[in-house]
Amino acid sequence: MTTVAETDPEIRLADYQPPPWRVRHARLEFDLDPAATTVTATLALEPDPDRPVQPLRLDGEELELLEIAIDGRPLAPGEYRHDATGLHIERLSGACELHTVVRIVPQANTRLEGLYVSRGALFTQCEAEGFRRITFFPDRPDVSAVFDVVLRADRARYPVLLSNGDPVEQGGMSDGRHFARWHDPHPKPSYLFALVAGDLQRVSAPFTTMEGRRVEVNVWAEAADVARCEYALGATLRAMEWDERRFGRAYDLSVFNIVAAQDFTMGAMENKGLNIFNARYILADIDTATDEDFLAIESVIGHEYFHNWSGDRVTLRDWFQLSLKEGLTVFRDQEFTADLHSRGLKRIEDVRVLKSRQFVEDAGPLSHPVRPASYREINNFYTATVYEKGAELVRMLHTLLGEGAFRRGLDAYFAAHDGGAATVEDLVAAMAQASGRDLSQFLRWWEQPGTPRIEVHEDFDPASCSYTLTLRQHGADPQKPLHIPLALAFYDAAGQRIVRVPETDAATRPGLIELRDSEHVLRLHGLAEKPLPAFLQGLSAPVRLDMAYRPDELARLAQVEPDPLTRWEAMQRLARMALLEPASDALDALLQAQAALLDDPQANPAFVAECLAIPDVWDLSSDLAQLDIDAIWQAREALLERLARNQARTLDARYWALSAQALEGLDAASAAARSLRNLCLQRLSRLPAEIDGARAYAHFTGANTLTDRIAALGVLLHRGLTPAPTALRMFAQRHSGDALTTDKWLALLASTPRAGALDTVAALLAGPHWQPTNPNRVRAVLGAFARNNVPAFHRADGAGYALLLKQIPVLDAINPQVAARLLSVFEHWRRFDPGRRAQLSRGLQALHPQLRSRDSHEVLARLLQP
Ligand code: TRP
Ligand code: ZN
Repeated sequence: MTTVAETDPEIRLADYQPPPWRVRHARLEFDLDPAATTVTATLALEPDPDRPVQPLRLDGEELELLEIAIDGRPLAPGEYRHDATGLHIERLSGACELHTVVRIVPQANTRLEGLYVSRGALFTQCEAEGFRRITFFPDRPDVSAVFDVVLRADRARYPVLLSNGDPVEQGGMSDGRHFARWHDPHPKPSYLFALVAGDLQRVSAPFTTMEGRRVEVNVWAEAADVARCEYALGATLRAMEWDERRFGRAYDLSVFNIVAAQDFTMGAMENKGLNIFNARYILADIDTATDEDFLAIESVIGHEYFHNWSGDRVTLRDWFQLSLKEGLTVFRDQEFTADLHSRGLKRIEDVRVLKSRQFVEDAGPLSHPVRPASYREINNFYTATVYEKGAELVRMLHTLLGEGAFRRGLDAYFAAHDGGAATVEDLVAAMAQASGRDLSQFLRWWEQPGTPRIEVHEDFDPASCSYTLTLRQHGADPQKPLHIPLALAFYDAAGQRIVRVPETDAATRPGLIELRDSEHVLRLHGLAEKPLPAFLQGLSAPVRLDMAYRPDELARLAQVEPDPLTRWEAMQRLARMALLEPASDALDALLQAQAALLDDPQANPAFVAECLAIPDVWDLSSDLAQLDIDAIWQAREALLERLARNQARTLDARYWALSAQALEGLDAASAAARSLRNLCLQRLSRLPAEIDGARAYAHFTGANTLTDRIAALGVLLHRGLTPAPTALRMFAQRHSGDALTTDKWLALLASTPRAGALDTVAALLAGPHWQPTNPNRVRAVLGAFARNNVPAFHRADGAGYALLLKQIPVLDAINPQVAARLLSVFEHWRRFDPGRRAQLSRGLQALHPQLRSRDSHEVLARLLQP
């Protein structure tokens, strides 16, 4: 058996070498045609002046080479070598101009990397290494060039021709085609190149930057979808304004184009001046997008726009630094949402994602540092760790430095590396310089994998009225403890905050201490009784807190703590205890705490809904050495039923009280009312009295928003209520013309945890809706099934696993990134019970000879490593 190690080299950060050749300028001409596009490239190449001239190596994959010349002289076959990975030219004396012409076949490109066709239009996706599927080039982020691009295509089929930068010229040609010329004055690496050609419409608005630059902002989509682009356009303008106000960053071109693509592997892409989006992060109206979708769209629009500085103007030296742009940009988009909406709720949502994805990733075989030391396929490192934990590391810098010094540091970083390629060290050095702080220990955060644990011991001595807190950190390397900003507070019996600086600590500022050693001891004197400690307000560090709180203490924390995140966290802990330690009195405490919140008319309903939610199976999993899936699922179902019975009257009262406000409007208050009302509906539907589904059906037919319609449909399906088939038919019919809304009901169906679920999914795979080339559709059907349908996917007889394992090789041949991501749903398999483990051990091993891509092979190898 060949192993991955034999076929795919491991690429190591330690082996980094600067590029031997630079590209000063790139001129690209495209003769666009889905069946055969020719790309003519003229590259002004320069050797590194500080080294002897090296042979030239250009990346290139699946390119048919038609012409090659240096300085106008065609090369003879012996003067270059062309293989599966690129082009090699041995003897070059110095700066020169390389001319190549290649042919590519966009319509055959199902990987959606490079130039591809989506619903008749042409799109590119070049990050991370897709540009080499377009033309020969040093396809690495530390080679930046100024690009001039000419696009030529049939005018009728491709009336819109877009690329990066500013439009220069456009015109007709004698043969029924037309052309457009684009110039991007900002040097950029090849992964930020983009073009779009198609029959698209736009919505448009002017924006004037704080520097006085007039910008035309356009959002493009197919004609049928353009009416659903207004929200995205508004979000773009908000992002542009916010980045000026909060970070002093202005836009730097005369146009900013954003285009929706129905076939797109990831969320969206920050190509300079031409962001390309998965249509699901653009198209929205009250009838086709949920409240969550609206927030996600604004956040992704912001994310890609913010990359214009954190990613494009200052890019990466190498792909190991990926989190330098992604972690920083996620931090920026999180702050954008927090500033525009509710900071407390945003933090809860982000921490929920961090814990349910990133902590879980860290607890399994796919764990890696925020800056990995090696990889085989960089596509596999666009992970929760690089994005979400990466954002937490930037957030900790912000916490340690404060807004003023952080902002000075970021400004200095952008100024120092503008137009260049940076490393994590560069960012941290700028922050150290701006604050005068030593951040060398802090750098360890990028290098150590795993979620650090902080073990807390309390000791109260009534005789001396002294209270001792011992904090021990357990990270990946006991020899190299981390520098951890730890927020903390103490409360007295009356729920008042005890304001006293602990004797042993120079707190950075009130409520924040910094851990640097493996053990840290804190003492408080003059206390009549043991205080109640609270830690990590706002989650001041991405760590696990290992503290033996009693249920009554958690319930008190949920009441007295002002920080919404800490309150939410206390409620979640209580729920976890109620689930995993049934012998404790956590259940009673949880019932009371939930009842109190549900009854509180002052509390924001969206916050109440967050607090009342019960952690899902995977939230619970990262704490557990063994995963008894059946037991966890059953315990969770039993708890939800118990809560429903206990809260029946209040739930019903709140349901009706919220109805007036919840029914329409996209404002935050209406959305908040909907979120709690839908939670009430979900919970009430577990009661025997609701078995006829009348409430849920009325909720469905009376819905004025997709949020409510989809919530009701979910309840009807998941609880198997009588009106479910009728409602499903109505929903499917209403949205039959729209792929994104179709994805929504398909995902609900695939997630339905009922007998027969497997047949339902099998029927979907055999039916007209299955489109294995469309990543959104694959995620809607197979992703939802594997991640959400716990009883069916994890069926004890292994039939759920078998269904997915059969599809993975098929998908791998179509789109390796999609297949590799689906494969990662097995990241917990070694912690399963022996029966499921045996099935998966066999199933995963059997996959090996059927996989073709480096992406899937790398994930499989890591899943199977002992
Ligand atoms: N840079 C993109 C972002 O985070 C991510 C992305 C889009 C991507 N498309 C991709 C990553 C394809 C890898 C492959 O905003
Ligand atoms: Zn990004």
